[in-house]
Amino acid sequence: MACDRDTEKVHAVGLIKEPGRVIKVLMVCLGNICRSPTAQGVLEKQVLDRGLEKTVSVDSAGTADYHVGKNPDPRSIAAASRRGLDLASQTSRQVCDQDFEQFDYILAMDAENLTVLQSRCPSEHRQKLKLLLSFTEQRRLNVPDPYYGDDGFELVLDLAEQACHQFLAHIAHEFTSK
Ligand code: 4NP
Repeated sequence: MACDRDTEKVHAVGLIKEPGRVIKVLMVCLGNICRSPTAQGVLEKQVLDRGLEKTVSVDSAGTADYHVGKNPDPRSIAAASRRGLDLASQTSRQVCDQDFEQFDYILAMDAENLTVLQSRCPSEHRQKLKLLLSFTEQRRLNVPDPYYGDDGFELVLDLAEQACHQFLAHIAHEFTSK
């Protein structure tokens, strides 16, 4: 039977149970200029590489409003660009109440971000909140904030790459086992 390429790719990773369903993922850090834009860029690239762009959408936001409307930190843009990721067109925004309804997964970069999200999130959506690194086998659970240092930007990319890979495996499993 004929099957278009997108459908074949979606079957290949197992996202087959709910045709037309888009899984919406929100990456969250403090300022939305370093870690969560990087995690967004990393997951978007992995989604594209797997042909899942019609199945998984990605956004990011900050718990604080310090940098609303600004592009990502130039150090994040430069580090990401060395790995073929373009973060330059992203703009910072703050988490808003509708996010808790609209997104399926809300992935915090560290425990502090998670605590803020938990305090704002209606109880019926709390299961959407997770630490990004909970999808890795790493003992480390927080993506360290590189903003006040010089050399944490590569580590953010390394951790985001590992976690996003595992996260896509998780959702593939989640959406075939129901
Ligand atoms: P992010 O890093 O949460 O990874 O975007 C930060 C960016 C800015 C600030 C703190 C952390 N700040 O205090 O302005």
